[in-house]
Amino acid sequence: MRAIEITQPGKPDVLQLCERPMPVPKAGEVLIKVHAAGINRPDVLQRLGKYPVPPGASDLPGLEVAGEIVDGDYAAAGFAKGDLVCALVQGGGYAEYCTAPAEQCLPLPEGLTALEAASLPETFFTVWTNIFDRAHLAPGETLLVQGGTSGIGVTAIQLATALGHRVFATAGSDDKCRACEQLGAERGINYKTEDFAAVVKELTGGKGVDVILDMVAGDYIPREIDCLADDGRIALIALLGGAKAEIDLGQVLRRRLSISGSTLRPRPVAFKAAIARSLRERVWPLFGQGKLKPVIYRTFPLAQAAEAHALMESSTHVGKIVLEVA
Ligand SMILES: NC(=O)c1ccc[n+]([C@@H]2O[C@H](COP(=O)([O-])OP(=O)(O)OC[C@H]3O[C@@H](n4cnc5c(N)ncnc54)[C@H](OP(=O)(O)O)[C@@H]3O)[C@@H](O)[C@H]2O)c1
Repeated sequence: MRAIEITQPGKPDVLQLCERPMPVPKAGEVLIKVHAAGINRPDVLQRLGKYPVPPGASDLPGLEVAGEIVDGDYAAAGFAKGDLVCALVQGGGYAEYCTAPAEQCLPLPEGLTALEAASLPETFFTVWTNIFDRAHLAPGETLLVQGGTSGIGVTAIQLATALGHRVFATAGSDDKCRACEQLGAERGINYKTEDFAAVVKELTGGKGVDVILDMVAGDYIPREIDCLADDGRIALIALLGGAKAEIDLGQVLRRRLSISGSTLRPRPVAFKAAIARSLRERVWPLFGQGKLKPVIYRTFPLAQAAEAHALMESSTHVGKIVLEVA
């Protein structure tokens, strides 16, 4: 099969088209003929040599695909040969064929093409498990999304809005702030020209937000503590602004604050299968109801994966970048 491999750590042009043997599904896995594969920032980190491949996973990049089930243990998860699915995978998505644990596959949401569905698994699994399972965003509570126009950010804004929450989001330009608002955020906050903590406090009448989805960390953490409501929670998913922070633990103590962090990729299949069940039951119907829609900024043919990575690193995109495979 044709695939994209990382020839060595480095710039986007280290992504090269290659021929590889077809992957063979293990027990509990399906083989998917890939129609499209989503691109995510962790793929860029992997290409740069900063995100080691977990043991047993493919060395090929790509954490999400959509396509047709052609072989494997599909019946174990209630699927049939020929079904179109989207799946969260451990790697190997930038290829014509990819294996996936059957329990990490989901049917295409009503009305979506495989290309659109390929943009969903990584961000929906990540956002669901962080905002709802870890940070327990509850009815009536408010959310601040850092990086509102990232793939993760657009999912977080749309999903929390669809479930009835007030959402605020940061982005690095006024145009991106307006894009956040079109997706449902009550207010996009330009983090380059505004103090997000002050804006959030003003918009919440001084109370602060209940949950913050944070991919920045570093010196954002003390400012986030300042604009968290009592009993507020920070769900940390990346360290784009650095891994070190100086914080006032007195505030954490007095106001019962929590900071948690997680990375999805190394978690076991059973953990991801539980998220898949929640998504299928609680989230997938919202696509059919018109409350959620994929936000795809641009697609590229598989052979142009390097151009797709360069676009992601330019940070000019809003939403997802997807590779068309078949
Ligand atoms: N923990 C996990 O399980 C997990 C899973 C998936 C992804 N992630 C992480 O989540 C992040 C987003 O992933 P993605 O694929 O959606 O990436 P992406 O589309 O490339 O987005 C990166 C975003 O970071 C924003 N950003 C950078 N510096 C910022 C700052 N100082 N303040 C606010 N926003 C800032 C950028 O906003 P501007 O362009 O507006 O500056 C951009 O929207 C990545 O860091 C990725 O590694 C974590």
